[in-house]
Amino acid sequence: MINDIKNEILRLKKEKDVCIIAHTYQGEEILEVADYTGDSYKLSLDAKKTSCKNILMCGVRFMAETAKILSPEKRVVLANGDAGCPMAEQMSREYIEKIKKEYPDYSVVVYINTTASLKTVADVCVTSASALKIVRNMENKNILFIPDCNLGGYIAENVPEKNIKLLNGGCPVHAQITADEAKAAKCAHKDALLLVHPECKKEVVNEADFVGSTSAIIDFAKKSDKKEFIIGTEISIVEHLQFDCPDKKFYPLSKKLVCDDMKLTTLMDVYSALKGEGGLEITLDCDTIEKARHCIDEMIRLG
Ligand code: 13P
Ligand code: SF4
Repeated sequence: MINDIKNEILRLKKEKDVCIIAHTYQGEEILEVADYTGDSYKLSLDAKKTSCKNILMCGVRFMAETAKILSPEKRVVLANGDAGCPMAEQMSREYIEKIKKEYPDYSVVVYINTTASLKTVADVCVTSASALKIVRNMENKNILFIPDCNLGGYIAENVPEKNIKLLNGGCPVHAQITADEAKAAKCAHKDALLLVHPECKKEVVNEADFVGSTSAIIDFAKKSDKKEFIIGTEISIVEHLQFDCPDKKFYPLSKKLVCDDMKLTTLMDVYSALKGEGGLEITLDCDTIEKARHCIDEMIRLG
């Protein structure tokens, strides 16, 4: 049955000239039918690259918006319209415009996990994979980083030559993990390396052997000579790594590391969206696309 749906998806995407793009937090069955998979930095480049007229995004809303900003001539559909990133909605454009007035000499660096509207008031966009390099390459010493204070704090520590002002946002999934949980996981798996996403709190990052984006964590684990790893990011990465590297062992840092929004998309959503019976078409006005595009183009230039 599941194979029939997969075959039908593969047939429909060809017939309708659709490119399926899926974030690595999606389930294995969705990654299997996707044309491109990866972290949010890679997905934004892939969305630009495809020659298909239609993009079907399996992930959360800001990822589909980014694809639309980069390819406004394409029809971009989010496979499950309810899938949003709670962090992306934390700060309004009006609030950031007010803060910008208080810090007129600061460049605004915005995490890609934000709405298109928020990107319109930013100078540069970053992803967790590209943030350190981009911030280092910026001319301005003064940086207002929004919204994730954990990723921002990690950048501040690793790029000490910059003066970074943080606001109080963050990912509710990664930020809930404590140093005690990290210590307990290390104690339970004494031979394992701890790999964590920089959206985790500093106290957790301090316990880690490696810190990186989802793709960087996957690459590190695959290339390492070590055999056991504790994974401090969304739990799907544990499954994907275990699937790809059966000779190694992967443990979740915590079973709480589940992003409910990323879990919303099902194979049936993909199928329905391809039939034109589901999903959410992303529409953005020209002004928003033009202004938000500037900071994404800067991300690609500086990254
Ligand atoms: P990446 O940039 O590593 O893909 O992370 C996206 C995300 O939503 C992490 O929670
Ligand atoms: Fe957003 Fe966190 Fe989910 Fe990533 S894991 S999509 S940052 S809520």
